[in-house]
Amino acid sequence: MELVEAHGAGIPIVGFGTMRLKEDAGAQAILSAIRVGYRHLDTAAYYGNEKEVGEAIKASGVPRKEIFLTTKVRDNNLKADDFARSVDNSLKLLGLPAVDLLLIHWPNSNVPTAESIGALNKAKRDGLTKHIGVANYTVALLKEAHAVTQEPLVTNQIEVHPFLDQTKVIEATRRHGMSITAYCPIARGRVPGNPVLERIGAAHRKTASQVSLRWLTQQGIIVIPGSGKPERQKENFEVLDFTLTAAEMNEIATLKRPDGRVVNPPQAPKWDV
Ligand SMILES: NC(=O)c1ccc[n+]([C@@H]2O[C@H](COP(=O)([O-])OP(=O)(O)OC[C@H]3O[C@@H](n4cnc5c(N)ncnc54)[C@H](OP(=O)(O)O)[C@@H]3O)[C@@H](O)[C@H]2O)c1
Repeated sequence: MELVEAHGAGIPIVGFGTMRLKEDAGAQAILSAIRVGYRHLDTAAYYGNEKEVGEAIKASGVPRKEIFLTTKVRDNNLKADDFARSVDNSLKLLGLPAVDLLLIHWPNSNVPTAESIGALNKAKRDGLTKHIGVANYTVALLKEAHAVTQEPLVTNQIEVHPFLDQTKVIEATRRHGMSITAYCPIARGRVPGNPVLERIGAAHRKTASQVSLRWLTQQGIIVIPGSGKPERQKENFEVLDFTLTAAEMNEIATLKRPDGRVVNPPQAPKWDV
């Protein structure tokens, strides 16, 4: 699997998103994804499934060091004490001494950046995570975070797919030497059925979802599609064995639209437009 390198981290470019996969059926689905071949798993305290993720990793028999595991701290736990408690709880649920990547899930303007980023740095210094990063950070928030962080931030996990223009934040993330991790890389199911993506897919004997994932990975963007269905997990994993032409890449870039954003909860920052 191709790795994306950023500040010493090597992150598998195709990962698996575990949101919504809970309880026995969820643990089975995560185990199925590991068996399909995924070696990069994305979870979060908020998803309420860290126990299932830990169980699936153990049940798979795949050595821990072969899996790149990310978890996240919720925006309501960014004060130093809450942060440390949240990380301890995540590790307890996962049944592991450390994760590979720890992210701030959403920024919180009520907590000073120095405090939240300081707590993130401390988790790394304490050996609870190999790498640290952020999610849903805008151009301005990235600048603030970099002014105070001691340890490198290796990724900004943001919504990226063909229907959303993220040019500004992608450029800023790259300027800081960070990788980009695309969540909702198939726009939460809106990609299948899109006529342009279906047509391009047919030319490569691939599906519209695979085209969306290839469009991202061909730009060096890490993807973490999620599915509870083994056949879709396989489909989403088999995206590195074909190449889109420059004309196809450009045509897909024209699909962006003003209402393309899928995830926009009340705690969202003021997005870059
Ligand atoms: N940092 C953040 O704030 C944030 C926010 C959102 C998501 N995430 C992360 O990103 C991951 C992925 O995002 P997401 O799950 O919201 O969106 P997504 O991966 O774009 O889409 C997942 C949805 O599409 C369906 N699907 C998956 N593969 C498909 C395929 N090949 N063909 C047709 N439909 C397909 C799935 O249904 P089935 O399960 O029925 O297949 C599911 O409903 C999450 O699991 C989570 O780890 C992070």
